[in-house]
Amino acid sequence: MVDVFSPAERAALYRVIESRRDVRAFRTDPIATDTLARILGAAHHAPSVGLMQPWNFIVIRDAATKARVKALFEVQNELAVANYAGARADLYRSLKLEGIEEAPINLCVTCDRTRSSPHVLGRHTVTDTDVYSTCCAIQNLWLAARVEGVGVGWVSILDYDDLRPIFGIPETVWPVAYLCVGYPRAFLGEPELQRRGWATQLPMNQIIFEDRWGNPPIETRGGP
Ligand SMILES: Cc1cc2nc3c(=O)[nH]c(=O)nc-3n(C[C@H](O)[C@H](O)[C@H](O)COP(=O)(O)O)c2cc1C
Repeated sequence: MVDVFSPAERAALYRVIESRRDVRAFRTDPIATDTLARILGAAHHAPSVGLMQPWNFIVIRDAATKARVKALFEVQNELAVANYAGARADLYRSLKLEGIEEAPINLCVTCDRTRSSPHVLGRHTVTDTDVYSTCCAIQNLWLAARVEGVGVGWVSILDYDDLRPIFGIPETVWPVAYLCVGYPRAFLGEPELQRRGWATQLPMNQIIFEDRWGNPPIETRGGP
């Protein structure tokens, strides 16, 4: 028999998805071991090409290690600000874009590009499907954390190759995400970048096409 979810269960899932946030401001209280285990377990239930499960999760609690990663962030963030000028650069500088040192846990999520070699079912043509699979695991983790009341912030203002010597990551393994994890000071009701006037969420009718690129879906044609 096919599993059917109750209306309350369905509503809960959509609420989790819509209330998930990228969190950069954390409280310092620790995350219980069993809570972290459930969150990582959710990540490990993600789909993966050919059931490759290419992911690993390095759990980082050491303050000195976090400080090294924070220093790497500072370097890349200084380079990134050069993309903007004037008021936009000022706004960029005012954004908090990481919570590396204050989060009780950092997670380095990796993708082992050689796992299940020599051939992974489904990966013959699109070889990056292992990286896509790892991103699916990260999204599972992000949503599971949200139901646990735990915040997750993805820090991509890093040269991930710089993480290799810090964590001893082999050459065939790619760092895919560096995540800050902890109890948030708040879960905002909307993306922080939207609240701060940096970017806005696109309306649904701009992202869905029918049959061909650019063709609006039937239900929105002629609409406002
Ligand atoms: C792949 C990826 C990389 C990201 N990197 C950063 C980052 O380096 N710093 C940051 O503050 N937010 C980062 N974010 C968070 C996005 O800014 C955030 O998801 C987006 O603004 C929507 O907000 P929400 O996640 O709260 O809904 C990243 C998100 C993704 C998916």
